[in-house]
Amino acid sequence: MKRIGVFTSGGDAPGMNAAIRAVVRTALYYGLEVKGIMNGYEGLINDEIIDLNSRSVANIIQRGGTILKTSRSEEFRTKEGRAKAAENVRKHGIEALVAIGGDGTFTGAEIFCAESGLTVIGVPGTIDNDLFGTDYTIGFDTAINTAIEAIDKIRDTADSHNRVFFVEVMGRHAGFIALDVGIGGGAEAILIPEEVTDIDQLVGFFTVDKRKAKSFSIVVVAEGDDQGGAFEIANKLKERIPGFDPKVTVLGHIQRGGTPSAYDRLLASRLGSAAVVELLEGETNKMVGIVSNELVLTTFEDAIDKCRPVDRELLKLAQILA
Ligand code: F6P
Repeated sequence: MKRIGVFTSGGDAPGMNAAIRAVVRTALYYGLEVKGIMNGYEGLINDEIIDLNSRSVANIIQRGGTILKTSRSEEFRTKEGRAKAAENVRKHGIEALVAIGGDGTFTGAEIFCAESGLTVIGVPGTIDNDLFGTDYTIGFDTAINTAIEAIDKIRDTADSHNRVFFVEVMGRHAGFIALDVGIGGGAEAILIPEEVTDIDQLVGFFTVDKRKAKSFSIVVVAEGDDQGGAFEIANKLKERIPGFDPKVTVLGHIQRGGTPSAYDRLLASRLGSAAVVELLEGETNKMVGIVSNELVLTTFEDAIDKCRPVDRELLKLAQILA
């Protein structure tokens, strides 16, 4: 193997640049050339492929976002799009790929490699932490710290005005961000897609149990909750509780940016470097991850399809502490 390509795909995540840096520096260390593919799969299709060297990744470890940009490519879902991508890969003499992204990225990589015969190793880069085969995905730690900092600020005004706030966090169909942020942020209730949200129970908390309910409350809502996002849930409660006037804050894309935490920089450096080593050892169609501080390889199929269970202990802790 002489030349590999690296790209970032799907929602960006803090730490992706640290992962890119580790891929490039490790590849160069082992005598490989590295091509950077801009804009994820779109760049593969449109031949937006550049040379990367050690200087290309200087002074980026502390930067959020991704210097290679990213995209969600509809065209790559088509055989024609993937054929164009395969043609460009061959044209540049790329023999293997490092794909940094989430489940959508790995789904595309698996199909692409089956069709093109390329080898690929995935690096879990998504704030959602919804991939099986790693304790944490790159970006999750930074995202929950960003969200908790925001909730601490909301807590000040909620306390001053004796208000109830519904704070919506990202996570797509998963509640990992909401659960950790809810516990770390001291929320009175945490609503996640993995647990059915009982509107009647919430009505009770804010009415019959009013004497127990604190003068103010923070409810953390995962955007994928079964009862809808924070605005929907707050409105359902306003319809049921006369005079109830909760405020809603949707944290949104602030959770995707910012300088990566120390943990994410270390995780990204370990996984980006390991991806290159695994390619050199002939591995393919697998994701690198860290489980109980050990490097592990998981097939794309398992990483995508096996459901990451919600930590029941954490759920119990959330109920006890609320
Ligand atoms: O997958 C990461 C993520 O931030 C999800 O938590 C969120 O639902 C989604 O991306 C938002 O996607 P976009 O940035 O394309 O709106």
